This record gives sequence, C-alpha cells and structure tokens, in this order.
Amino acid sequence: MIDQLKNIEEELNQAEIKTSEELAIFYKYFLSKKGKISLLLYDFKSLPAENKRTVGKPLNLLKRKAEELYDAAKEMLEGQSQENSRNFLLDPQKIEIGARHPISVVKNRIEQIFRYMGFGISEGPEIEDDWHNFEALNFPPDHPARDMQDTFYLEKGYALRTHTSSVQVRVMETTKPPIKTISPGRVYRNEAVSARSNSFFHQVEGLHIDEGISFADLKQTLYSFVSSFFGRDLEVRFRASYFPFTEPSAEMDIFLGTETEEDKRLTKGTGWLEILGCGMVDEQVLKNCGIDPNKYSGYAFGMGIDRIAMSLFDIKDIRDLFNNDTRMLNQFVAE
Ligand code: DAH
Repeated sequence: MIDQLKNIEEELNQAEIKTSEELAIFYKYFLSKKGKISLLLYDFKSLPAENKRTVGKPLNLLKRKAEELYDAAKEMLEGQSQENSRNFLLDPQKIEIGARHPISVVKNRIEQIFRYMGFGISEGPEIEDDWHNFEALNFPPDHPARDMQDTFYLEKGYALRTHTSSVQVRVMETTKPPIKTISPGRVYRNEAVSARSNSFFHQVEGLHIDEGISFADLKQTLYSFVSSFFGRDLEVRFRASYFPFTEPSAEMDIFLGTETEEDKRLTKGTGWLEILGCGMVDEQVLKNCGIDPNKYSGYAFGMGIDRIAMSLFDIKDIRDLFNNDTRMLNQFVAE
C-alpha cells in the first residue's frame, strides 16, 4: 500500500491542470468516489490495526495534497474566466467629439478678420419691432420688403428680423461715434425653401461711422476683407444698386471664374458671385438714430454667411446645413 501511495504521489506531482476539462479529469482520477485516493481509503479500512498506523498519516497527507491542488487549480481557473468576462478585447465605447458647424466656422473667420481691422462685435434681438427693422432704415410703409410674403410678422407689431441691418439702428441709437462694429446673426424670410434658399439664414452686418468717412474707406475695407478671407487677391467688382438706407448703394461681387462646373453653377455662368450689399449710410438714417449728418458720415455693408459657406465647402443644398446629420457636419474642421 505504501508503494501505491508513492505512485499516486508521483502522479499528483506530475499532474498539470490548465483547463476546466483537465480539472474535471483530475477530480475524477484522484478524488471522486472511484478515484485512486478514495479507493485507497476504502482499502485502508480493511487493514489490520498495526498497519493502519503507518499508512494512515501519509494517506491523509496525500488526500489533503490532492484536494489542495484541486482547490488551487479551481481558483486559478475561475479567476481567469472572470478576467475573460471583463473582456479586454471589446471595442471601447466611442466618445463622439463634435465639430464646429460650417456656418460658425465661416462666421468666426469673418469676425476674426474684422476684429483685426479694429471692428467690435455687437448683437441685437431676432424678434424686432418695425422701427428697427424697417422704419428707421428708411423703408417706406408700402415698400415691398415689408410685404407679408417676405416677412414673418408676429403679434403686436413685431416681426422676425429680415436682416441684421436692424442692429445698425440699435447701435447708432445707443453709441456715440466713432462707431466701428460688425453684427453677425440669424435672419428670417418667408421664402419658398429650396436648395438655394431657406426661410432663415445668416448675415454679418458692418457699420463704420466717424468724421470724414468716404466710399474709399468702404472699398478698402472690403478689398482687405476679401483678400484675407479667400487667401488670394480675387478680382472684385462693385455694381451700383439700391437700398433704402444707403446712398449711394452698391453690391459687391467676387470673381470665381467658370472653369469648373461648380463655379458655373454658383455664378450662373457669369463667373461672378455676389457676396454683399453696401453703401454710405443715408443721411436720413443717421438723423433717425440721433447722429448729426453734418458732422459724421459712414458706410455699412451686409453679407450672407450661408452662401459663402456653401461655396467654400462645396455644399450643394442649403438644407443640408440644418438637418443636423452629424455625418455631414463632422466633416468640417473647426479653426
Ligand atoms: N440688409 C441688406 C439685405 O439683407 C444687405 C445690406 C445692404 C446691408 C447694404 C447693408 C448695406 O448694411 O449697406 O439684403
């Protein structure tokens, strides 16, 4: 029996348990009811008393050794499977990092350039009264721009502002010249929604009032803006135009050319893209806002941000800017 014990001990020493299957085999082989150690214990019972003394102790030690090996291996395997259930191979949870909206990218760049030229930034309300949106800006009561078809009227004489020119009035009413400011913001018009026009869009208004400001100052400011914004000395032209609040008035176009289909489409085949309206602030407007036109003069301009963003980022449909599809919006890198 002592020999059997030694053999089993030898086997125990060589046993390797690396998987739960091996653990089960180990148990069956040594410790189960028909396992080698259990059978020895069984035989042990029928030994004569004097032999029991010599075999009893090593047999007990052998049994304990087998149990310890079994327990240790079981614990090790359980630990491993817990680690597996933590599963370090799972995809990490992605953190979505947003991107600046293309309108904001363009707005920020415009602001940066005008800031650099000494302009401050001012804002006004999107719900505006008739005075600030129309009357102070010399729109006669029957002017077509006041038509219900173009303007979203609200209750009690209020409307959603149709342009950021309303902020000019607010600034002139509350600030003494010199005034040098731009006013970015959202504006609303009751237009048929299409790929090219939306019922709301974005403008940046500019206003510079001081003694002796002339049309030359306006042109120089806009030339500087265009070359900073588009990064090259684009050809620019002014066309005579009409706005009730400026005299003289002009519209400014930039030359994109007609080389690509996109340029042709954007410029309706002419190569020229209109980007803003401008002019010298009408004397009556200065008076309406409490500024003495004999002492001060100034220029104003207003440009649309959405069209610039569309031509810059090659966006074909203005509605794509506002349906909040992050696959679309995440393409634009913030600056
Ligand atoms: N408010 C005009 C518009 O929405 C744009 C504009 C034209 C603004 C001439 C001006 C300006 O300040 O001087 O179409």
